[in-house]
Amino acid sequence: MKLNIGIIKGDGIGPEIVTEAVKVLDRVAEKYGHICEYTELLLGGASIDVHGVPLTDDTIRKAKSCDAVLMGSIGGDAKTSPWYQLEPSKRPEAGLLKIRKSLNLFANLRPAVLYDELKGACPLKESITKGGFDMMIMRELTGGLYFGERRTVEENGIMTAYDSLTYNEVEIRRIAKRAFDIALKRRKKVTSVDKANVLDSSRLWRKVVDEVAKDYPEVELSHMLVDNCAMQLVRDPGQFDVILTENMFGDILSDEASMVTGSIGMLASASLNETKFGLYEPSGGSAPDIAGKGIANPIATILSAALMLRFSFDLDAEADAVEAAVEKVLKEGYRTIDIMSEGRQQVGTAQMGDLISSYI
Ligand code: IPM
Ligand code: MG
Repeated sequence: MKLNIGIIKGDGIGPEIVTEAVKVLDRVAEKYGHICEYTELLLGGASIDVHGVPLTDDTIRKAKSCDAVLMGSIGGDAKTSPWYQLEPSKRPEAGLLKIRKSLNLFANLRPAVLYDELKGACPLKESITKGGFDMMIMRELTGGLYFGERRTVEENGIMTAYDSLTYNEVEIRRIAKRAFDIALKRRKKVTSVDKANVLDSSRLWRKVVDEVAKDYPEVELSHMLVDNCAMQLVRDPGQFDVILTENMFGDILSDEASMVTGSIGMLASASLNETKFGLYEPSGGSAPDIAGKGIANPIATILSAALMLRFSFDLDAEADAVEAAVEKVLKEGYRTIDIMSEGRQQVGTAQMGDLISSYI
C-alpha cells in the first residue's frame, strides 16, 4: 500500500521526535511491504520564519492532498521567542487552530493511560491507581470558545473583551456519535462533561447527547459537570472510559488527565474529520527548553504514528506491531529522561527510535 503522509516537524523538540517516528514508519513499510511518501509541511513558528505567517493556503492545500498528517509540536517560549511579538492571529498557535478548522478536524482523541511499567511516575497515591486507568478524552475541536466571535472594545472608557461560546446541534451530534462509536470498541461507557447548571450551550449539549445515546443502547451514558470532572480525575480516574466534552473543557481536562498518568511523553493523539483523514500528534508541547538536546521522549509521536496506521490506513497489524515494540522497549528497561527511574537504562531520543524500530 502507498501511504501519502504529510509531515509537520514544527518547533522546539518537534523535528527531533518526528524524525524518530518517521524512522519507525520506514521500518514498518520495509517489513510489511508498503511505500511511505512524505510531504514536508510548514506550520507554526517554522512557517513564520519562512513565510511570515503560521500557516499558508498552499500548506493547507498540500495537507488536504495527503492521506494523513503526522505532526511534532508547534510554538516556542512566549517570553523570549520573537514569534510572540506578533499579534495573536499571527502567532504559531493561530496556525494550529487554522489547520484544525480548514481540515474540519472536529474530533480530537486524547487517550490517557497509566502504563504498568511507568506506574512509579504517576503522582497519585497507589490506593487510587491500583486498578490502573485507561480513558479516552474525546474533545470537540472546531467549535466553542476557540472559534466563536471575539473582540476587544472600549466601552465608556473601559476596555472590555468578548469571547463567545457557540455550539449548534449538528456540531454536537457528530462528535457525540464518534464518542459512542469509540465507546463500543472499549468498555462501553461515555461520560459527557458540561456545565449545564450555568451555560445554555451545555444544556443543548446534554439534550443532543441524550438523543444520540438512544441509538446506542449498549453504551452506558452519564453526565458530569466539568468542575466535578476535574475533581474526579484525581479522586478516581479509573471510573472513566470515554469522556466526551466541548473544546475548552477538553483542552483543560486533557492536560489534567495526561498529568495524572505521569508520562505525558507517552501520550498520542488524533484529530479526525468525517473521512479517513487525520492529523496525528503527541499530546505534549514543543518543550523549547530541551529542544536540540537529543533527550526528548519520541514515544508519544511514535504512538501517534501507530494511531495513524490504525485510523487513517486501517493497518491494524502494523499499528499493533508499533505498540508492541514500544511495550517491549519499556519492559527491557529503556527510558528517556522524563520517565527515568532507578535501575533503568537512560537513552536519548535517537537511540529510543532505533530501539523501537529494531523491535518491529
Ligand atoms: C492543545 C493546545 C492548543 C489548544 C493551543 C496550543 C492552541 O493547548 O492542543 O491542547 O488550546 O487547543
Ligand atoms: Mg491544550
